[in-house]
Amino acid sequence: MSHPTKRRLHLAAGVPGVNHWTIWGAPGAGSQIDFSTFEHVARTAERGFFDYFFLAEGLRVREHKGRLHELDVAGRPDNFSVLAAVAAVTEHIGLVGTASATFNEPYDLARRIASLDHLSGGRAGWNIVTSSDAFTGANFRRGGFLAYPDRYRRAAEFVELSRALWDSWSDGEPARYRYAGEFFDTEGWFPVPPGPQGHPVLVQAGDSGDGRDFAVETADVVFSRHGEPEAGRAFRTDVRARALAAGRDPESILVLPGVSVVLGDTEAEAQERARDIQFQQVTPQTAIHLLEQVWGTDLSAHDPEGPVPTPPENVEAELTQGQARRVDDPSAAARAWHAEAVEREWSIRELVVAKTTRHEFIGTPSRIAEQLDDAVQTGAADGYVLSGSVVPHGIDEFVDRVVPLLQERGVLRTSYEHPTLRENLGLGDRPRAGERRAELEGVAS
Ligand SMILES: Cc1cc2nc3c(=O)[nH]c(=O)nc-3n(C[C@H](O)[C@H](O)[C@H](O)COP(=O)(O)O)c2cc1C
Repeated sequence: MSHPTKRRLHLAAGVPGVNHWTIWGAPGAGSQIDFSTFEHVARTAERGFFDYFFLAEGLRVREHKGRLHELDVAGRPDNFSVLAAVAAVTEHIGLVGTASATFNEPYDLARRIASLDHLSGGRAGWNIVTSSDAFTGANFRRGGFLAYPDRYRRAAEFVELSRALWDSWSDGEPARYRYAGEFFDTEGWFPVPPGPQGHPVLVQAGDSGDGRDFAVETADVVFSRHGEPEAGRAFRTDVRARALAAGRDPESILVLPGVSVVLGDTEAEAQERARDIQFQQVTPQTAIHLLEQVWGTDLSAHDPEGPVPTPPENVEAELTQGQARRVDDPSAAARAWHAEAVEREWSIRELVVAKTTRHEFIGTPSRIAEQLDDAVQTGAADGYVLSGSVVPHGIDEFVDRVVPLLQERGVLRTSYEHPTLRENLGLGDRPRAGERRAELEGVAS
């Protein structure tokens, strides 16, 4: 059956990082570091005709109250090494790795990504993040780090220079490149010929106005945290308006929020499973820990099942280091959480469950298929990045039970049409990237 007017649903699968959404203590939970985990998720996603397999990045083991963050001791290997290994056990699925534009150097990263594009036959992608804070920077720099306002300016030059490197070969030979900008002043020859995609697919994850402007200037895909259909629609509308204002066709940029899906044989069972997962995600200890992050103060003397204490008037202390801040005014955020908890008579744990866990799609397989289809047809998203709450089997059930229904609806492919990720995403030529300052001089060596 053909559905000529339907928009396609794009799907990606992530191995969830070290965070409390993953239930590491669940029966059957695997390792965060074993290759079998990455292999299983990637091959399952390929069995479900997903567009790409995705890995986030954490560049410094986080700390909470000056001690190791308990969830980070699981370990986190280098993305592009993992993706190269996954390339060997998959055939079609795209391979997208997150890498910071703040702490890498363009020549080295562009070379690693181009290498993955070759090794995988044109399936490589780079999720560009800026992740700048002094705490992470201390791992990389001798003193100093990038100031918050400068990170997207550096990222824009980083991408521009990477593109210049990927373009620097001509007639099967490297040509001399030279790039002079505010952050980079480099020249030489790039050692890797253009991969099958020319330019690997660029994904971007950043939420601020600057982040969104950077996305429409550079990226093929925006990875967002706005998975609820209404919030997703507002985000996607904003990104598309920014694209138009920047002179770019909004259809050339895909918005894929990260979401979680909970299935059940009946709606009631799905709701019950969702609630059960949420309380497993937020253990009593995690509840205290997460509230401490928001309150900025030690709460270890409080009962997680007891009432929510009044937050300090001024929340200043950053008890947790190494993760992106999500609110502009921490004191106001804490007051709002407290007011809601009092009104609803929530315990600490109930508040933290309500505020920090989410399942965007809950229901029977047919209801989920319908909701995903609707979301894409009504502009809430161009697709979704799914991650399960249990590693590595979290997306198995979705692939077994929902994927066939999506295919029946005509919104999901029944075979991979093209060899490259860029083509499978339906993306045309790469987006233009600002004004190029690179000079490419063809110099015979
Ligand atoms: C959906 C999403 C995923 C992100 N994933 C990562 C990641 O894997 N690693 C990382 O260092 N930063 C990650 N970031 C953080 C961003 O790089 C950035 O530092 C943060 O969003 C603040 O930038 P903004 O003010 O533009 O949003 C992510 C951000 C978003 C919105």
